[in-house]
Amino acid sequence: MLSQGRIKDLIGSNTFAYVLLVFFCTALITISPVNAGENATTAQHNYDDWEGPDYCGPSCHNDIYQQWKQSMMSQSYTHSWDEIEYFKLAVPHAEKDEVVAEVKAGCNGCHSPMSFLVGDIPPPRPEENSRANDGVHCDFCHTITGYDGELPFNFNYVTAPGETKYGPRDNSESPDHETLKSDFLGSADFCGICHNEKDPYGVWVKSTQLEWKEGPYAAQGVGCHDCHMTNAEAYTASMGEKYKDARQHLFHGAHDPGKVRGTIELRIHPDVNEAKPGESVKFTVALFNQKAGHKFPTGSVEDRILWLHVEAIDVAGNVYHLPVDKKGFEGEEYTIGSDVLAYQDMGIALNDPNFKGVQRDGIPIGDRIFRMPYFDPQGRMTIQQWNTKSLGVDYRLGPLETRLETFSFVLPDNIEPGKMKITATLNYQLLVKPVADFLGVPEEESAIMEVNSHSTYLAVLP
Ligand code: HEC
Ligand code: HEC
Ligand code: HEC
Ligand code: HEC
Repeated sequence: MLSQGRIKDLIGSNTFAYVLLVFFCTALITISPVNAGENATTAQHNYDDWEGPDYCGPSCHNDIYQQWKQSMMSQSYTHSWDEIEYFKLAVPHAEKDEVVAEVKAGCNGCHSPMSFLVGDIPPPRPEENSRANDGVHCDFCHTITGYDGELPFNFNYVTAPGETKYGPRDNSESPDHETLKSDFLGSADFCGICHNEKDPYGVWVKSTQLEWKEGPYAAQGVGCHDCHMTNAEAYTASMGEKYKDARQHLFHGAHDPGKVRGTIELRIHPDVNEAKPGESVKFTVALFNQKAGHKFPTGSVEDRILWLHVEAIDVAGNVYHLPVDKKGFEGEEYTIGSDVLAYQDMGIALNDPNFKGVQRDGIPIGDRIFRMPYFDPQGRMTIQQWNTKSLGVDYRLGPLETRLETFSFVLPDNIEPGKMKITATLNYQLLVKPVADFLGVPEEESAIMEVNSHSTYLAVLP
């Protein structure tokens, strides 16, 4: 998919032409046809083709800059887990395995797009403070004019770095650069360029924009921007006007516990109000995806783990863990916490062909997991999305979907009579903990985030 020829195609595309009103900083009104793609074709790219975020930010667009700086978008190259995965796993793997050789360059197409276009591969390590560290930055996004191909994916952007910055308005004036209105930046397709990814085996390993497109929000006209770049009344530049609908560059997602919290609403209820020791009670949990415009988890699905834990506590304080009732669908074993090893393909990059793997889940055995497993060419679960040959059952929670799970519990003979409390908790980790620990990824990446919880009660009769 990302073969050399393909990459050249991507760079050398020339499809989008915009003919729009251009307002120059001097307020000179010129009508000028701009063929954005043409610049992209002929340009021999150089880091200096793009202004750095420190140039755009503090002096003119300070609030936007501060928001962007706090978002993952500004850390797309420097973030520790990205550095570890790229340098420890992806690069060595790409150097050993022809099939995935292209990712050595390709990862940067989205994570450090300037380095990719400049051909600075692999880019210097983050500690070297090179321009690669700018990641997905202001001038990179604001000089994208379209994408090449039928679907936006795999960094198939058409770029036209230069004096003209594309944005949402046709009446903005800047003393620094030209501005041109582009509806493209306001579309979900724009985000899809990097938020949809096909790996070297042709598998869709990231499909946030595609999930959104087939879901209820696209039909209602609620786009990515409405949840991740919300509008507020604000100035967008120090010398500019105040707008009622100024785009906030929040880009808050899975790394913002506040964004993740409440994504799923959940409630638990028993099928009876009282029971005696030895009797069976069935608890039903309803999980409603009220907040995400796509599936949850989305994006780096291979890394994420979202699981439902149910516990009962009797009046004496004894705690009982309730495993989920099996439904019997194909591939269900990947959706229930188990004591098994996985991720053996990390051994390729780590020069340990007999690597036994690490624990697959690192969560309580028997808990329900909402995930889609990724499998390597040998059929083993992998967190290396570039080494994914097939996908397993998609048991993630779709936008506005409600899923029911049941937990049957035979009250133990020695259970204390009185009011028993049963709590369902939905937990989330950005990266499965055994992998994070094995690779030395900082704790915050595997810290447990509580998405939601709810309790119900049962009267235990003597
Ligand atoms: C990931 C891509 C991306 C990055 C990075 C990015 N922007 Fe934007 N920016 C957008 C999009 C998308 C819009 C809104 C387009 C629309 O609504 O049609 C926007 C809007 C704007 C606007 C106009 C806001 C308005 O409502 O009039 C300004 C000014 C702006 N960005 C400046 C910046 C600056 C400065 C930075 C860096 C600190 C930056 N952007 C980083 C994508 C980006
Ligand atoms: C040029 C590529 C590119 C474009 C275009 C782009 N993104 Fe991203 N985005 C990334 C990368 C790479 C990351 C991952 C940063 C990391 O964790 O390494 C990211 C991260 C994010 C995150 C944070 C996710 C988290 O884990 O917290 C959100 C939210 C997001 N993008 C939304 C958007 C939206 C909305 C748009 C369109 C307006 C967009 N992106 C356009 C490349 C892009
Ligand atoms: C209705 C609101 C809504 C819409 C529309 C929406 N999102 Fe999200 N998005 C969320 C919420 C809530 C989360 C946090 C929970 C999660 O990770 O899914 C999130 C998370 C994310 C993440 C982080 C996922 C991860 O695991 O790191 C990315 C990236 C993202 N969204 C991109 C997009 C893109 C691109 C679009 C448009 C194609 C979009 N979102 C549309 C609400 C929305
Ligand atoms: C098509 C664009 C694209 C390509 C190619 C790509 N990524 Fe990403 N990557 C993203 C986006 C977008 C996100 C954020 C998705 C999300 O929030 O879940 C991301 C997230 C990640 C994360 C998780 C960040 C976190 O903190 O959770 C890691 C690590 C990562 N990428 C590494 C890589 C490596 C290594 C490669 C090459 C083998 C690669 N990526 C190729 C777009 C891409």
